[in-house]
Amino acid sequence: MAILKADQDSIERAGRYIAHGGLVAIPTETVYGLAADASNGLAVAGIYTAKGRPVFNPLIIHVADPRAVPALAVVTPLAEKLMAAFWPGPMTLILASRPSSVVDPLALAGLDTIAIRIPSHPVALAILRAARVPVAAPSANRSGRVSPTTAQHVADDFGDVVPMIVDAGPTELGVESTIIDARGEIPVILRPGAITRADIERVTGLTPEVASKIVAVENGDTKPDAPGQLASHYAPRAAVRLDATDVRAGEALLAFGQDVPPHDGPMLNLSPSADTTEAAAHLFGYLRDLDATGMATIAVMPIPDDGLGEAINDRLRRAAAPRA
Ligand code: TXA
Ligand code: MG
Repeated sequence: MAILKADQDSIERAGRYIAHGGLVAIPTETVYGLAADASNGLAVAGIYTAKGRPVFNPLIIHVADPRAVPALAVVTPLAEKLMAAFWPGPMTLILASRPSSVVDPLALAGLDTIAIRIPSHPVALAILRAARVPVAAPSANRSGRVSPTTAQHVADDFGDVVPMIVDAGPTELGVESTIIDARGEIPVILRPGAITRADIERVTGLTPEVASKIVAVENGDTKPDAPGQLASHYAPRAAVRLDATDVRAGEALLAFGQDVPPHDGPMLNLSPSADTTEAAAHLFGYLRDLDATGMATIAVMPIPDDGLGEAINDRLRRAAAPRA
């Protein structure tokens, strides 16, 4: 693992590395982030593997230029106001994601919303410009640990799992960005952060709501107060049958590994080589594609719990759960 001082050379290297699918820890004005190309499912899967997240949490998508936002998300009048006042800076907006967006569904954990932020740190902006892709970047800590405010914190948490850390010294703010749902007319604070409720009120003239169902936990992640309550988690229209070892009439098959049972209907294989990282990269996209075939049920082959398998199985169990 290399800790590189932030300069023109390391910025260009980091940008190239991200564009080629690598993981790089980058400084922002809030905390260090673990950055990867958000349009590359395998690179995004690498973030989840490195963080050791037990489930797929949606990631914040970082861009350098507000002109990149309309291709990724539906910009509401409220969002426009907030963007003009607080970007670049420590604010993340939740907006409706565009179906045509280049962002891989794994980065959004299959949600139809997207969290977007333009950081103000000059090194972060320079790396985003060099990478030329939207960048998924959660805080660069292992799951359950506190957010890192120095390059050394990142190194302590990850060791060689993260090959490159760009070091721009301690972060200025040390607390994560404020997450605001700006899809409606009233701003809803999902995670308190560096932009305060008073800041939001001053700029919009509106009293923000604070999401009641989502509680902030000490490591800066938002956590639904009951499983599945980060609602609108994508559930396919089709029924989902888990641990399938055969394929029945009216079923599409979501396969894993080489021992694919005989099937007449549509089939997609998450990973012919039985690699859970590759499977994670395909999971949400393939669920959507099979759902779009119109078959009544998606049969899913058993997936082992190793690596990202645990997160995949958690997600599949939710997709298979009875609907309200
Ligand atoms: O300051 C920050 O925001 C830092 C720096 C690196 O930019 N990033 C950060 O990311 O704190 P992370 O992954 O540690 O926290 C992002 C939070 C998670 O709790 C996630 O659940 C929430 O944002 N989130 C992401 N997309 C969401 C969505 N579509 N709807 C609701 N919450 C979302
Ligand atoms: Mg975090």
